[in-house]
Order: sequence, then structure tokens, then C-alpha cells
Amino acid sequence: MAGRQLKEIFRAFHARDELAFRRAAMEIIEEEQAKHHNALARDLQKLLVAGGGSLDSGSTIVVPAPPKDREGEWDLGEVREPDRLLEDLILNKTVSSALENIVEEVRQWPGLDAAGLPRRQRLLLQGPPGCGKTTAAEAIAAELGRPLLIVRLDAVVSSYLGETASNLRRILEYADQAPFVVLFDEFDALGRSRDDASEHGEMKRVVTAFLQMTDRYRGPSLLLAATNHPALLDEALWRRFDEVLTFGLPTVHQLRQVLRLRLKSVAHSGLEIDRYASTLKGRPHAAAEKLVVDARRNALMRDSAIVTGEDVDRALPGITSRPW
Ligand SMILES: Nc1ncnc2c1ncn2[C@@H]1O[C@H](COP(=O)(O)OP(=O)(O)OP(=O)(O)O)[C@@H](O)[C@H]1O
Ligand SMILES: [Mg+2]
Repeated sequence: MAGRQLKEIFRAFHARDELAFRRAAMEIIEEEQAKHHNALARDLQKLLVAGGGSLDSGSTIVVPAPPKDREGEWDLGEVREPDRLLEDLILNKTVSSALENIVEEVRQWPGLDAAGLPRRQRLLLQGPPGCGKTTAAEAIAAELGRPLLIVRLDAVVSSYLGETASNLRRILEYADQAPFVVLFDEFDALGRSRDDASEHGEMKRVVTAFLQMTDRYRGPSLLLAATNHPALLDEALWRRFDEVLTFGLPTVHQLRQVLRLRLKSVAHSGLEIDRYASTLKGRPHAAAEKLVVDARRNALMRDSAIVTGEDVDRALPGITSRPW
């Protein structure tokens, strides 16, 4: 057995990185098979499977079901296998290199720990709707080969006094069990109690509680919070995150890039992409994506496999007239 694999297994144990552990374990089993140590290879395989998981997919991560609220009624989170990549996103250079750096840095956490350097583990993604915050969280998880744990804030926020904090604690304990990318999506909802007129004050209070609770979090998961609520930023709460990434509205050039990307695998003819991008100016990336989807639907409705300028022009008013 190579020293490299042994080191990898110890490192994976230390980082509680199940995926890395399984990868190294599979390498060892394959090596033993190659040496015709069949009985040993079979025993190791059995032990790995007994721990749960499938052998034909090394990337399958087996995690227990997410916790429920106190009444056992609602799941506090949902685990997803992410399938978006960073290359699916059109972002400005600052944000895209920040995302790449984060991914690389998470891979290097053991090295940072060993050097006594702080990890950047709690990030805030902020910006207007439809500019890629949720998608970026998915892409970070996919790039890291980690499952995405989406926290269900509607279930976490309870009308019972003190219950919100205990739900938060429960979901964080869960995120301690395996290396997830955890997304507190629409994070501002944390403080939005149902019948509280002073909604803003309540939001601040609960978000502060979240920040305190996660202040010393050094578990295996990366914690992401996303918001499009500017009030959160007015309160300087953002300063307490390790990093804040601002997703801005796209330029016309970026809208053009989104249109091209979404049309890449679509048969089309006679499209005036520059004009559509200019018409969409001031709207989010999601608008460009929806334009392509709506145009494709129009083409399908007239039984055509090819999207034409007419299909796009028919879709445009619906996109430009709605608020984004
Ligand atoms: N930067 C981008 N590049 C390419 N596509 C994008 C980008 N941003 C958003 N999209 C597309 O728009 C849709 C909505 O994006 P997403 O849900 O990530 O936005 P969001 O910032 O989380 O919005 P909200 O604040 O409403 O939650 C997605 O399907 C995504 O593919
Ligand atoms: Mg979102």
C-alpha cells in the first residue's frame, strides 16, 4: 500500500472528508486486486459497502437524513447532488476568481489548519435577484464534489420562542457530520417572524444570533448565506462574515454571453443576439436565460426543432414587461 494513499486516508479522517476517504479506499482496493490479493480486496470492499454507499459510484456520499423541527413535522434541510459548474456562470472577473479561490482554499483547509492560518469558512453572497447566488452555491458544491445542504429557513424559523435558535443549532450539528456546502438561502428570511410588525429588528436579532452561533464553527462544512435584501448590508452585519461576494447585474456584453451559452446546444437560425442583449439591458442574467427557454418553448409549440428570430421576438415582451 502506497504511503500516499495512507496519508490521504489519514488526512480525509482528520478533515472528515468522506469523499476523499472513499477515493483513497477505492484506490487501495484496486491496488490489492491488481496484486491478486483477491481475498483481502474482497474483504475491504465488503467493509466499505457495510459503511453504506455504492461501489460503482465513488462519488456517492451517504449521509443521514437531515433533522426535523421539534414537532418532527418539517425537514430543516434538503440534501442535493449539485449539477451546475462554475463554467455555467457568467460573472465579472472579481467574483469568478473569488469563487475559484474559495474552491481551491477549501481543498487546502488541512494545510491552512496546519499552518495556523484562519479558514474562510462563512461567506455571504449578496446581490439582486437572478444574478447567480444560488447557482454559485451549487457550483461550488459541484466543484468540490460535496453534497449541497440547502437549509429550509421557512422550517427553521419558528413562531415558538427560542425554537429558531435550537433549530439552527440542530442543522449546524448535522452539518458537522460530513463535509457539505451548506446554503442558508434567502438568509434574510431568518429574522422574518410571521406576525412581527418590527420585521427588520427581528431579522437583525436572528441574523446576529446566527453569526454568534457560527463564529467559532470549525466543522468540515463550508457555510454560505445568500441574500438580496439590502437592509442586511445596511446594518454592517456583513463585516462579520469571512468574505462577502457581490453579484451585480450583468453588462450588455455579459447578457450576450448568457444568451450564447444557453443557445449553445440549441438549433437556431437568424437570431440577432446583440439586439436581444441590448433590449435586456438592466435586467439580471436570469432574464436572458428565460428568454432562451421561452423562445425554445415557442419553437416547440409550432412543431419546429429550430429556434428562429420570430420565436425570440414573441418571447421578448413577456421578459421586458415583468419586474425582475
Ligand atoms: N451569472 C449567471 N450566469 C449564467 N446564468 C445565470 C447567472 N445568474 C443567474 N443565472 C441563471 O438564472 C437563474 C436564476 O439564478 P439564481 O437562482 O442563481 O439567482 P439568485 O441570485 O439566487 O436569485 P434570488 O436572489 O432571487 O435567489 C438560474 O437558472 C441561473 O442559471
Ligand atoms: Mg437564490
